[in-house]
Amino acid sequence: MTDQKDIDKAVEILQEGGLVAIPTETVYGLAADADNPEAVAKIYAAKKRPSTHPLIVHVANQEAINSWAVDIPEDAWKLTEAFWPGPLTLILKRSERAKDFITGGQNTVALRCPSHPLTRQVLQKFDEGVGNGVAAPSANPFGKISPTLAQHVRDDLGLVSDGGSVDFILDGGACDIGIESTILDLTDEEPRILREGAVTAAMIADRLNKPVLHGTITTSPRVPGTLKSHYAPDHPLILSSTEDLPGKAQFLARQFKTFGVIAPTAVATRFAPISEKSFGYSSTKDLTKHLYDWLHQLDKLKIDAILVVPPKEISEAAGVLDRLQRASAKRNL
Ligand code: TXA
Ligand code: MG
Repeated sequence: MTDQKDIDKAVEILQEGGLVAIPTETVYGLAADADNPEAVAKIYAAKKRPSTHPLIVHVANQEAINSWAVDIPEDAWKLTEAFWPGPLTLILKRSERAKDFITGGQNTVALRCPSHPLTRQVLQKFDEGVGNGVAAPSANPFGKISPTLAQHVRDDLGLVSDGGSVDFILDGGACDIGIESTILDLTDEEPRILREGAVTAAMIADRLNKPVLHGTITTSPRVPGTLKSHYAPDHPLILSSTEDLPGKAQFLARQFKTFGVIAPTAVATRFAPISEKSFGYSSTKDLTKHLYDWLHQLDKLKIDAILVVPPKEISEAAGVLDRLQRASAKRNL
């Protein structure tokens, strides 16, 4: 069990410029002191991530925004009032404090206040009343699936004591939401979603009483999640409707190919006997929460493909549908 000693240890390591894997309600993050260039450099080395990709600064509270951003629009306060702590990242104009090694040289900064109770304690202690924050990308190697369990971090990045790159993993159990936060750009006239997540466009539009745009950053890879196949598992992922699933399964079986299945529970149960492994979900929330763990588990098996039946409804499923589409990019049967 994680206790106060672990919280203190995490804070100490961050203060000394080390790397701590922190649990959040979305996915595990790989955290370092956002004011310390050497510490932040370790994040890029551990993830093997291109150094021009900017990082989210995770803060303890709303007030910290004043320390990291300038020209803060009223919308930012409305949204943080409604959704912080929680899975919403805001892009704002950066202050002097947000240096190039955080923002990738851009004049904007990404800010988020996560809600996981352990990480909240770490951030509150680390803040020291002056808005100290931690830079924390998802704690996975660049291009791989994000971690939603401490074990995923142990497997994919490893502890320094085991020859890996993370000084300490704060184990906060399974992440509640399971996919990365919504990213909302507030630096233009109109708010623009850069990455779908649990806070939906409809929820934001409702709060702000104005329409929300959906951005596609086609000219720049600044949000790696927008690279086409960024969330790809090692095995090809094939999307299918429930109706087409038997045909796709037969097509694979005829070539002596093995596969895993992720589908609504009733469908997954039917395909259990002919697949290597099947996972059933009871709701969009359930799928969102477990998707990355199931993909991690399927990647460990010797199979040729993963067949996935996505949820039908659209609004609440926007985040998970987006991750599934990216994971299946160019690999549809
Ligand atoms: O849920 C999350 O957001 C998780 C947890 C750990 O908080 N973090 C996460 O970080 O997903 P990361 O680095 O894997 O994804 C954050 C994305 C990056 O793709 C980055 O390019 C984008 O946010 N980003 C950061 N600063 C930005 C900026 N100033 N403008 C546009 N995009 C930015
Ligand atoms: Mg990531």
